[in-house]
Amino acid sequence: MADYALTLSDAEVARYRIMADSAERAERHLWTDAGAVPGARVADVGCGPGAVSVRLAALTAPGGEVWAVDRDPQALAIARALADKEGAAVTTVNAPATATGLPAGTFDLVMLRHVLAHNGGHEQEIVDHLAGLVRPGGSVYLTDVDAAYLRFRAPIDPAVNELHDRYREFHRRRGNDLEIGAKLDRLLTAAGLELAYFQGRIDVVNPPPGMRGPAWAARDAMVEDGLASAEDIARWDAAYNAMTGPATFFAPSFTAYARRPES
Ligand SMILES: C[S@@+](CC[C@H](N)C(=O)[O-])C[C@H]1O[C@@H](n2cnc3c(N)ncnc32)[C@H](O)[C@@H]1O
Repeated sequence: MADYALTLSDAEVARYRIMADSAERAERHLWTDAGAVPGARVADVGCGPGAVSVRLAALTAPGGEVWAVDRDPQALAIARALADKEGAAVTTVNAPATATGLPAGTFDLVMLRHVLAHNGGHEQEIVDHLAGLVRPGGSVYLTDVDAAYLRFRAPIDPAVNELHDRYREFHRRRGNDLEIGAKLDRLLTAAGLELAYFQGRIDVVNPPPGMRGPAWAARDAMVEDGLASAEDIARWDAAYNAMTGPATFFAPSFTAYARRPES
């Protein structure tokens, strides 16, 4: 399975929190409809630094619990610290999304956000595993990017555009599908679930100064894969530093959830 390529700087953790804010504003009613209600058992698989896990824990209180699963111990440690700070009922689990070790057939809701695009060739295997975790009537909830709809608004330095082109090529060579978003419904129905919701949205994002996004976060991995040099990184860094105004971009994501049949 392709290694996860992003590294977690403070700016990246802040980016996850901004994304989680925006996701909660847009999707809170969907989270609830899918099963994040008081008392529920929820798993957030590929939880990263836990920005969404703690929000799910708030929705499931009192009496509920969230299992936050990730294969990256650094991300999990940040999730643990965040949950402790917020007093959230979150259990952290270090495991792969294809074999979480969580008890089968017991969850009201299993969520997987922005993970499939990093797991080329294993998407169905992951969704099949998650489908086995939910109880009859429980939901598997997927959110992921579809880069076909991604746009940046000028002025963007050409070097920053080049970084993003290189990032797409990096994922392509790893076998990842950055257009997985528009296929989420099929992954769920192929796992034997009944589709309840499938829509896409575009978030208009004006990142605060210093926040550079996933392509920049993957720079070391791109160097390791021979797709970028130290000179490229220095050039991209200089281009970001020289940018004066906010770089508005239009971030596409799709969400689908589906329920395990009752019988
Ligand atoms: C882009 S982050 C998304 C984090 C979180 N779901 C969110 O939306 O804020 C992807 C996370 O999934 C984890 N991940 C990727 N592939 C994984 C896999 N096969 N098994 C477990 N974790 C995985 C990474 O370690 C990373 O923390």
